[in-house]
Amino acid sequence: MRKWAYKVKGIPENQAEIIVCSNNFSGRTISLISFSTEEQYQDGFGPLTTGFKVIPFGDAQALEQAITSNTAAFLVEPIQGEGGIIVPPHGFLKQAEQICRDHNVLLVFDEIQTGLGRTGKMFAYQYEDVQPDGITVGKALSGGFYPISAFISTEEVMGVFQPGDHGSTFGGNPLAAAIGIAALDVIIEEKLPEKALKLGEYFIEKLQSIKSTYIKEVRGKGLLIGMELYPEAGGARRFCKALAKEGLLAKETRDNVIRFAPPLVISQDEIDWALEKIERVLTTTG
Ligand SMILES: Cc1ncc(COP(=O)(O)O)c(C=O)c1O
Repeated sequence: MRKWAYKVKGIPENQAEIIVCSNNFSGRTISLISFSTEEQYQDGFGPLTTGFKVIPFGDAQALEQAITSNTAAFLVEPIQGEGGIIVPPHGFLKQAEQICRDHNVLLVFDEIQTGLGRTGKMFAYQYEDVQPDGITVGKALSGGFYPISAFISTEEVMGVFQPGDHGSTFGGNPLAAAIGIAALDVIIEEKLPEKALKLGEYFIEKLQSIKSTYIKEVRGKGLLIGMELYPEAGGARRFCKALAKEGLLAKETRDNVIRFAPPLVISQDEIDWALEKIERVLTTTG
């Protein structure tokens, strides 16, 4: 992306900027935490990397206003995962695409949490008719087993890398690559995106019907679901702990959201099993 900006777009050396959204999460390395809007992620890790501009998530007008002649890319999660399963207004991704095209800015989707079937489509951006210039994938690419992640892009962008420009001791690991390919085969052959779509609709509808004074909203797409609790509920963590005691793992995001992201091979019977426990914990925890 850096070289693309300098070589293809002609941005002066070391002046490229990337626009990101508030409430983002893209990882824990120094540049990624540098554009985090969560104080805790940056605490103690300075000095931070410069060159990032933050706009509100879902605000296409703010994106257009933030773009300068030095803007190389807009990096955004199609649904914010760690940020609390926040789904942007429908149309935002399409508008962002148009704005990026108009200004020759690369549109990059972070699909590490949402990609490869999780949200009921192969990629979450496919809920809108959009074509990104780059996609990051990870998590599901590993089959939940072996460290592998990837950046997918066009020939034009990838082509600026020359031998020696980039590298890592374990990069290009053949076992990881084989596992990634096998995981992709399983996702396609077992129709996991379609399954996530169908079971996700069922799961969300049932969660929405739970009558608990703690629940503010249930939202999500496919099998990436957030149950937001009112602040008076005392935080999502204690409910996640209670669920763990029942044999059900759900990790909170931010303070008040319980995230349900079950394996995509889950069955409807297993969702029913989970629903019974979730309802009990949400209605009997004092
Ligand atoms: C959207 C998103 N991007 C990036 C990451 C970080 O990925 P990794 O842990 O592979 O660095 C995560 C992890 O949760 C994520 O949710």
